[in-house]
Amino acid sequence: MVMKLKAKASIPQHVCIVMDGNGRWAKNRKMPRAYGHRKGVENTRQAIEYFANAGVRHLTLFAFSSENWDRPQDEVSILMDLFLQSLEKYSTELHQNNIRIRFIGDREAFSNALKKQIQKSELLTVDNQLMTLNVAANYGGQWDILRAVKSIAKKLVNNKLNLEQVNQSELESGLSLSDSPDPDLFIRTGGEQRISNFLLWQLAYSELYFTEVLWPDFSKLEMQQALDTYAQRQRRYGKTTDQLNAEC
Ligand code: IPE
Ligand code: IPE
Ligand code: MG
Repeated sequence: MVMKLKAKASIPQHVCIVMDGNGRWAKNRKMPRAYGHRKGVENTRQAIEYFANAGVRHLTLFAFSSENWDRPQDEVSILMDLFLQSLEKYSTELHQNNIRIRFIGDREAFSNALKKQIQKSELLTVDNQLMTLNVAANYGGQWDILRAVKSIAKKLVNNKLNLEQVNQSELESGLSLSDSPDPDLFIRTGGEQRISNFLLWQLAYSELYFTEVLWPDFSKLEMQQALDTYAQRQRRYGKTTDQLNAEC
């Protein structure tokens, strides 16, 4: 029984993933990048299922960065079409599985059809409790922090806040995901070891896990490996190992 409780505690509450490597996966097969993105969506479905079943309560997926607009126009349109199609296809399934979907990022740049569908999917699933799935689309960590700073500046200018009240929790209240715990585990597939302007503030104390495996190949076994690695980490938050050992 004690063992079971211990095992449960080592499941991260919040996992975030940079789903990278779709293009190279397709290129390795002499296929167009779009094929890799479609396979990537299929694997995203599998990842949502896996992490929800594993007991993860918040899953945040990087789907499209604020820098990804700089890709060739036809790839950008393929990705936008794929978002819309995937939401149309999978929203009901998410709802049936008690999963809430939310989007973070600046959605103003999206087409009206996509904006509408995002709103529809969010509304459909708003009361679901099993897991919250945050999809980061047209998201940038710097954009997020800047927006929070602007919201503080606005309150200062309007005398809704004074300088002494500007603190960490006030800034955090203006960030995306302000109502979720910070990610415990950050996973990046595809071999690059960088954050690429994903959650910057929120990753301050996340455990980082990088793998060479390309996103379409990131199987349930690989997902399990990421969770197993996380379970082995000691999160010290500045303290010493001796201190932590004395605490338990
Ligand atoms: C990640 O895969 C998906 C998006 C950025 C939308 P990539 O498209 O970046 O794949 P690689 O890195 O070129 O292989
Ligand atoms: C990061 O992947 C963004 C997403 C996975 C959506 P990129 O492939 O765009 O990252 P960089 O540009 O190589 O760092
Ligand atoms: Mg990439």
